[in-house]
Amino acid sequence: MSTAPGYQSPTVTVAATLPKRRIGSAVLIVPVVTGDDDRATVVANPFLDAEAVGEIEVALESLGAKGGSDQTTRVLAPSLPVASVLAVGLGKARDEWPGDVIRRASGVAARALSGTENVVTLLSELDLDGAIEGLILGAYRFSEFRSPKTAPKDPRLTSITALSTDRGAKAAAVRATNVATAVATARDLVNTPPSHLFPDEFAKRARALGEAAGLEVEVLDEKALAKAGYGGIVGVGQGSSRPPRLVRLTYRGAKRKGKRVALVGKGITFDTGGISIKPAANMHQMTSDMGGAAAVIATVVLAAKQQLPIDVIATVPMAENMPSSTAQRPGDVLTQYGGITVEVLNTDAEGRLILADGIVRACEDDPDYLIETSTLTGAQTVALGGRTPGVMGSDEFRDRVATLSQAVGENGWAMPLPDELKDDLKSTVADLANVSGSRYAGMLVAGVYLREFVADGVQWAHIDVAGPAYNTGGPWGYTGKGGTGVPTRTMFAVLEDIAQNG
Ligand code: BES
Ligand code: MN
Ligand code: ZN
Repeated sequence: MSTAPGYQSPTVTVAATLPKRRIGSAVLIVPVVTGDDDRATVVANPFLDAEAVGEIEVALESLGAKGGSDQTTRVLAPSLPVASVLAVGLGKARDEWPGDVIRRASGVAARALSGTENVVTLLSELDLDGAIEGLILGAYRFSEFRSPKTAPKDPRLTSITALSTDRGAKAAAVRATNVATAVATARDLVNTPPSHLFPDEFAKRARALGEAAGLEVEVLDEKALAKAGYGGIVGVGQGSSRPPRLVRLTYRGAKRKGKRVALVGKGITFDTGGISIKPAANMHQMTSDMGGAAAVIATVVLAAKQQLPIDVIATVPMAENMPSSTAQRPGDVLTQYGGITVEVLNTDAEGRLILADGIVRACEDDPDYLIETSTLTGAQTVALGGRTPGVMGSDEFRDRVATLSQAVGENGWAMPLPDELKDDLKSTVADLANVSGSRYAGMLVAGVYLREFVADGVQWAHIDVAGPAYNTGGPWGYTGKGGTGVPTRTMFAVLEDIAQNG
């Protein structure tokens, strides 16, 4: 077993045929669609002969399986070299499997197979990335804080065999495994409770992950932050006995003309609201307020693992937003890194304060692009719900990020930043106020605030994942309860696209 920090994913191998000898503990995942006769029909594939297909379809019919999407049915298939078959419904037959269909079906299969150690999947013939990512993420578990009394006793998924006849399948499988591992690592960070993940500890974990991936790591502590003028991070962090940090992780992969991308993520390890304290109901969900930071850390590590030919520099401010006699007060004025002064009218609008410092610092590296992500506003969930990130920023790059987010199934949606909203952020004593006096367009107002800190000429995107970073509902597809790892896959897709197309 490797001792590398981060999530331990199952081992993934690619094979061009079914196992020659029976693997007694393995389950074979077989995609089925709803045929014209309303019966479950095995999707055509080069791995099963007519006898095996017949055996599976007869068994499915006897159980009334129809192949509807998300329907899973376990059957025996004595002629095959596995213990059993799990048929996964994909709905009506299609020629192509767009977007997230196979990833979700694979996640549903993984959850139905909970307790299975070895799986062999045929979904990989339809979409290798989706099949592998869906299995690893659907099988994701977080049980670090369970005592032996309640710890899950059933074994974890340890090995995946993806069947594929594609030439590029091996490299694609490594990539998909790395992507899923990054998402799972972000989930682990989000799921770690605020008692155990506070700024200094978060910085240590970021350092360990960064160093293991060969990144340059720099950590500023509270003294260094105060000295350098990071007024936003210091102001938000000053109410907590656990002082703030700023972590910088640098991956240098650019060859000649390679682009440079800055990533910035909100790392509030717990958000009580501060003196503008939040109501008690659901406050525990604010353990997810470092979801942007977790995704950014996972993404820069993933860029290094995949050796993208670009530079990626992550700037991650970390603080705990607490009320106390040392906390900042509503009405206080602070100076953001770089000199802009801000009247803090609401201490619960803390994300933008630490992010503005982070964005100014990130722009000092002269990036071509800047992606910032944060669990920034409750207004994001009001506007778009729990599964749709809001993407704002410079028009062209924002649309590119939203399109790629759709393509990978994280489904970010482009939103505007109307100029007139800036008037709502006027302060009577400082350059800016941190909140507007209005109830309207809260997600956009936060984006307009951040825009003030982005250097001219940098193409930027702001991804608000207040809802999507943390699943408060039941499991669905490859997403369980708790941390989701969103928008790690969106950001990585953007990095790959920049590496390829500039
Ligand atoms: N961390 C919250 C936003 C949030 C809300 C994330 C719900 C996830 C779920 C953020 O710091 C916050 O409190 N925002 C305020 C802004 C307001 C004071 C302008 C909000 O949304 O109420
Ligand atoms: Mn807040
Ligand atoms: Zn917050």
